[in-house]
Amino acid sequence: MRADDVPAAERLSSLGYYELDTRTHQRGWPDPVPRDATRGGAWVERTTHLLVTDPEGCWVAEAGGELVGAAVSYTRELMWLLASYVVRPGLQGQGIGTQLLAASLHHGRGCLRGMLAASPDPKAVRHYRLAGFALHPQMVLWGAVRRDAIPVVERVRDGSPGDFDLLDSVDRRTRGAAHGADHEVLARQFHLLVTDRSTGSGYAYVDDSGSPALVAATNRRTATDLTWAALAASNPDVPVEIAHVTAANQWVIDVGMAARLELHQRGYLALRNLAPPAPYLHHGSFL
Ligand SMILES: CC(C)(COP(=O)(O)OP(=O)(O)OC[C@H]1O[C@@H](n2cnc3c(N)ncnc32)[C@H](O)[C@@H]1OP(=O)(O)O)[C@@H](O)C(=O)NCCC(=O)NCCS
Repeated sequence: MRADDVPAAERLSSLGYYELDTRTHQRGWPDPVPRDATRGGAWVERTTHLLVTDPEGCWVAEAGGELVGAAVSYTRELMWLLASYVVRPGLQGQGIGTQLLAASLHHGRGCLRGMLAASPDPKAVRHYRLAGFALHPQMVLWGAVRRDAIPVVERVRDGSPGDFDLLDSVDRRTRGAAHGADHEVLARQFHLLVTDRSTGSGYAYVDDSGSPALVAATNRRTATDLTWAALAASNPDVPVEIAHVTAANQWVIDVGMAARLELHQRGYLALRNLAPPAPYLHHGSFL
């Protein structure tokens, strides 16, 4: 992948995921929507960053001079992570994805651990299991937050780049590898909340709707407080989504039940040589 491939890779991934969402759409769940320009811009910013830090982890497939597939992977400390993986609908199931994933996995050959958020596409899941990943089903909490359920949370504050060392320490303890330079991009794309108390430390990246996109903490109580602080900022009329909930994180299901959110299932957290991180809610591509 080269820098000038990134916009075309973004359009391809948007198309691929939208087609998958439409194909796997479940009743009772919001209708799929194509990725909009804001989310597309965030994808381009993330991928451009990963292409700088890990050029050898980022690959595209071309046919007839057109981009037909992409895989974006990177390593952080001793962990290999996959941010994005897609083949153009209509050309899937013909072996293109196998080659892209092999090239990306080669980039992580020195890593003990691996982590990626798998879509529900059976073709993707087959690849990950055959590559030695353990598959942990993910749940999603969704809905408008019941205002009278929101508790008073103390000593959660806005974060800044001066907190990144603390965030990296919490990362190492929860997922076994720091996010490092990825915190700079995350902090540009999300609102950072931090808590650092004698009883526990942690952080949350929160989107404009009040949905937590990443939560990491040294204990469940702290993670719960951070999640409530995020939800408190939500709009009463706009649903929030707490995605990427594994069974190891029942604490967030308790928050969702108290907030009267719906519980659904979607995709897998795929892990190699790593127990499901907890208390932890992973980001889809920065994990
Ligand atoms: C996942 C994806 C990138 C794989 O690329 P691809 O070019 O389709 O993959 P390949 O053709 O190389 O391999 C597909 C594998 O799935 C198998 N397969 C095909 N249809 C299948 C099905 N319905 N169920 C299970 N396996 C299936 C194929 O036989 C092949 O396995 P094999 O090589 O052991 O025979 C592509 O399908 C895709 O873009 N999916 C939508 C986006 C997505 O979900 N991305 C993953 C994000 S985590």
